[in-house]
Amino acid sequence: MLRLPGLIDPHVHMREPGATHKEDWGTGTRAALAGGFTLVLAMPNTSPPVTDAATLEMALERAAASAHCDYAHFLGGGAENTTVAASLAPRCAGLKLYLDQTYGPLRLENMLLWKEHLQRWPKDWPVAAHAEGRSLAAVILVAALVGRPVHLCHVSTREEILIIRAAKEHGLPVTCEVTPHHLFLSTEDLPRLPGGRGEVRPRLASPADRQALWDNLEVIDCFASDHAPHTLAEKDSSNPPPGFPGLETSLPLLLTAVSEGRLGMEDVIARCVTNPRRIFRLPEQPDTWVEVDPDTRYEIRAEAMFSRCSWTPFEGMPVRGRVRRVVLRGQEAFRDGVVSAVPGWGRNVRAV
Ligand code: NCD
Ligand code: ZN
Ligand code: ZN
Repeated sequence: MLRLPGLIDPHVHMREPGATHKEDWGTGTRAALAGGFTLVLAMPNTSPPVTDAATLEMALERAAASAHCDYAHFLGGGAENTTVAASLAPRCAGLKLYLDQTYGPLRLENMLLWKEHLQRWPKDWPVAAHAEGRSLAAVILVAALVGRPVHLCHVSTREEILIIRAAKEHGLPVTCEVTPHHLFLSTEDLPRLPGGRGEVRPRLASPADRQALWDNLEVIDCFASDHAPHTLAEKDSSNPPPGFPGLETSLPLLLTAVSEGRLGMEDVIARCVTNPRRIFRLPEQPDTWVEVDPDTRYEIRAEAMFSRCSWTPFEGMPVRGRVRRVVLRGQEAFRDGVVSAVPGWGRNVRAV
């Protein structure tokens, strides 16, 4: 048995309020614990989106009532909330800027709005951006112009990771995350994921893009699941929403890569614990750890999962390494497929 610190997932979609048929704070945080995560940062593209004090309060009330693991909540940058958003910074996981089209209504078209948000949000609190391709280069420039750090979400291509490498070599305070689906899947997997099942933003990339992520591992600060549950009925519909669930598959996939010698365990700890803790200014969780059996081999099955969405793009994939037990703040929270932490045991790590 191997003992790891509690993992942090800096990018999850809990879907509550507004779409609890996909996920809610109960199912989502049970999925987190089952996946070895003891702290999750929730995204603001809910219904309504979290963009001011009232909607933040609404989301945090739902979380306080139901969460089984610790959490903090992002605030979404909109066209009308640059001043209000900045005033809420210490109560949020960070500011999230959606700069390209993805799931939900939060999208900032005008680069002058990006600049206003990046200027007003306090420099010592984090800003994360969904920025693909040229938007990524553009937001790196705007953040540099106003002199503040920016965290780049779910980087997926060779072009993007090499621009981030160049920005870091230039001394710019940029950080980034990569998802397990962009590390372990590519366009070659699309035939297995017909129709909407393969839809995700950023899209699955070419095998060469995927390889470039592995070749530039030292540029990747965090692994993030971008757990984005939608139901199979929605994925198979004529207008499928983009997104893959990931909380319960991230660690098994990473442990498999460790067992194959493609990653070191210290690479996983850096990207799932120490780097996200530093980048997002998160507290240490005392008496918190995850016990994994690194040798058990099995196949990924959605039917064994806690996520309400009940499917996974990794169905049937052989993995090696299983989460056996999670202890959160001195209390056993998960053991052998059973969540024992009660709803509400999770704490808001940004509570003031
Ligand atoms: C996310 C979602 O469903 O909320 N979808 C996705 O494809 N990644 C939105 C996002 O993270 O961009
Ligand atoms: Zn995104
Ligand atoms: Zn996301």
